[in-house]
Order: sequence, then structure tokens, then C-alpha cells
Amino acid sequence: MGAGAGKPQTFYIETFGCQMNAHDSEKVAGQLLAQGYHPAASSAEADLVLLNTCAIRDKAEQKVYSRLGHFKADALAGRKKIGVLGCMAQLEGEKIFERVPYVNLVCGSASYRKLPALLVRLQDGQRATGLTYDDEAFETEFTRRASPFRAYLTIIEGCDKRCAYCIVPFTRGPERSRTSDSILAEARGLVAGGYTEIQLLGQNVNSYRDPSPRRMGFAELLGAVGRIPGIRRVRFTTSHPRDFSREIVEAIDSHPALCNHVHLPVQSGSTSVLRRMAREYTREEYLEKIALIRSARRAISITTDIIVGFPGETEADFEETLTLLDAVQYDGAFSFMFSPRPNTAALALDPQVPEEEKGRRLKVLQARQREIQLARNETLVGREFEVLVESHNPKQAQWVGRTTTNKVVNFTTPTAELGSYARVRVRRAGPNSLVGERVQ
Ligand code: 5AD
Ligand code: SF4
Repeated sequence: MGAGAGKPQTFYIETFGCQMNAHDSEKVAGQLLAQGYHPAASSAEADLVLLNTCAIRDKAEQKVYSRLGHFKADALAGRKKIGVLGCMAQLEGEKIFERVPYVNLVCGSASYRKLPALLVRLQDGQRATGLTYDDEAFETEFTRRASPFRAYLTIIEGCDKRCAYCIVPFTRGPERSRTSDSILAEARGLVAGGYTEIQLLGQNVNSYRDPSPRRMGFAELLGAVGRIPGIRRVRFTTSHPRDFSREIVEAIDSHPALCNHVHLPVQSGSTSVLRRMAREYTREEYLEKIALIRSARRAISITTDIIVGFPGETEADFEETLTLLDAVQYDGAFSFMFSPRPNTAALALDPQVPEEEKGRRLKVLQARQREIQLARNETLVGREFEVLVESHNPKQAQWVGRTTTNKVVNFTTPTAELGSYARVRVRRAGPNSLVGERVQ
């Protein structure tokens, strides 16, 4: 089916949330192109605007509602069609039509397979809804990747954990792994197409279970991707500490293409908070995983996610999160104030930590982590690293590269090529990035 008899329709996708969403947008864009739609340069110019949404915290949802308001006049005048995709669509479903009547399409993150049919309904002037879970992981031959050198590749969808704060099991459904054959075929195709960096994605990436008779484990899969001739960098995100094994560290040690970086969300440093979060590990068990990573032959950087102000978190619990920061020495941490989400177990827990107190704890935590990052980055001054050149900042006459440890280096050089690898020497360090110059 084409996009309709008249002039070709144009689309624009705005993406909120995580890398899974960024990659879903690439898959959706590919499907739209295959249906005869054309990309628009901005949402203002597009006939069809799709918001690919996140529902992880209340703030993320509010952002989407305010963004939708922006398109109201055009939508009501019939100049644009508006679709809500992703996690908020899956969560709120048809309620979105009630709250924002000028929305034409609501399609959850587990229903993109149905998009071609939904688009036909849209063209016929009807509302379209896709909210069921497909029982397989969503694969499409039409993915339209945003970068020509770094590629996302989904290996597992959904999540079977039941962390008490988390909406993801409700928005992305149960765990579904792709077969190792289809993953490796896609990875080989990417390398043949010029990609040198592949980022393996899953809400819970190390719960990967090959559904094919080969029964490849996650660490084995990492090795198999890392051995593809021509691949330079393999990353994976996000790992759950409970399923993080010695085999993963050994795979990193023995495959040069596997990057020196692990993102291992801890959420809290207090065992009693972790228990109420249903995280399935204690502070001590988490620290054992960290020790495994630190015992590698390679210097692997570690980053994390932290929630402050989970219901019942005492000042003493929070102190334990601060001492955990000191103990682990993270290279980066994303930290958030707890946000109560519909359907989750944490809704029934009390007492709630007051908003101002959550804000205070967040500030204290971020200040502490900032000092740690600055101190760690300062030890890199004078050293040389290989970076993948990811972007150019002409205003500052700087190029932006990334180390295998996932650190951003802003560097100077007369010329460079995006997507190439360069050697840089670090001259200055900040808490969030490094500054350097190209060598040779
Ligand atoms: N409130 C605050 N932060 C949350 N996260 C997940 N759910 C919530 C919530 N309800 C954080 C966790 C997770 C990251 C992606 O978002 O730290 O690892
Ligand atoms: Fe947001 Fe989680 Fe959905 Fe990603 S999976 S878009 S973080 S709710």
C-alpha cells in the first residue's frame, strides 16, 4: 500500500526516553519509508507527527502532553495528523484520545508490527490504535538508522523482573529474546554496510536467552558479535546486577572489540531499600559484581542509575548510597527522584519521602558523584586514547569523540572524518568530559 493517492505524505518523529526508544524510532521510520512516506526536515513541516514517548517518570509524561499541545491548532485545522507511540501510548491507551482529542493514532511499543495497517486507517480518516503485545521481538527489514557508523541492535525486548518502582514491564511487556542467528545476521549485515560500532540493546540485556536450539548464552553472544571481522566496538545496555556474570567479564577480557564499559544500575546502596525495591541483590552482592569487573585485565569503566527518595528511604539508607559511591568509584551516574508510577508495587509502600527532601538528597548525591568523576578524569590527563569521532562542533572548533570507556573527549585537529577513529591526548579534565588534541 502506498501512502494514499494524492501527494506523498511527510512524517517527523520526535523521540523521548531511552536508547530502546531511539532505536524503535529508527524501525518506525524505516516502516514509514517503506509505505511511501517521506521524511520532513522538522515537525512544523510534517503532515504526520509521531511522538515516541517515555513513561518512566511522571515528568516524562507531562513533557509529552505539553508537546502535544504545541500541535493542537494544526491538528484541529486538519493540517497535521498526530500519533503517540511508545511507552506512554502502551500505558495510557485510548485514554490519550479522551485527554487529547486531536490525536489520531495511539500505538504502543509492542505493536509496531501493526503500523502499516494502522497507517492505512489513518489515511482513511479514521482513528487507529495498536495496544496488544506481539509475542515475538519486533524485527523489521526496514530500519532507518540515524548514524552511518554506530548502530543499535535489539537482542531482547521487554522485562520479566518486577522492580517495585518500575513501569517498564507494563509498557514493554514480557521478555522476548531474538534468535542468535537473526542477531548475528543483522550484525554481519551492519558491518558489511560500514558500521564499526554496534550497541546491543535490551531492557535487561544480560537476561538474553537464545530461543533457538543453539541456546547461545549472553556472554557467548557477546563473543560471537565481537569476533565479526571488521567490527571495532561492541557495547551493551542495560545489565541487571542479578544476572551479571563472570562470563561477561571474561568475554570482555578476551575480545578486543568489546568495549571497556559496563552500565550496572544499582538504584540504592542500602540492602533494606533494595529488598523493598525487589531488586534481588544486597549491597554486598552488588559489590561482589563490581569486584568481578575490577578484577578484569582491562580497565573497565562502570556507570550506574540511582533512585533517591524511594518510599521508606531513611537518612541512614541514603548515607549508604553515598558510601557506595565512594566504594565503587563510578565513572558516571544517572540519578533520579523517585516518581510513583501506576500499577507498580511501590504505590502501596510508605512513608513517601517529601519532594523537598528528595530534591535535597539528589543534590547531595550529584555533588558527591561529581567530585568522584572529576578526580577520576583528572588521572587521565596526559594520557592517549583512541576515540570514535562522533560529531563536530564548528562553533568551538572542536571535534567530539568517545573512548572505549564511553568518555566524551572534545578535541582539536585540523581535520577529521566522522565515523573514523583518532588518537587523542587528554589535556584537561572536567567531571563529565575531557578536552584534548589529536596526536600523530
Ligand atoms: N522513579 C524514578 N526513577 C525511576 N527509574 C525507573 N523507574 C523510576 C521511577 N518510578 C530509573 C531507574 C532506572 C532508570 C532508567 O530510571 O534508575 O534504572
Ligand atoms: Fe522510558 Fe523505560 Fe520506555 Fe525506555 S523503556 S522509553 S526508559 S519507559
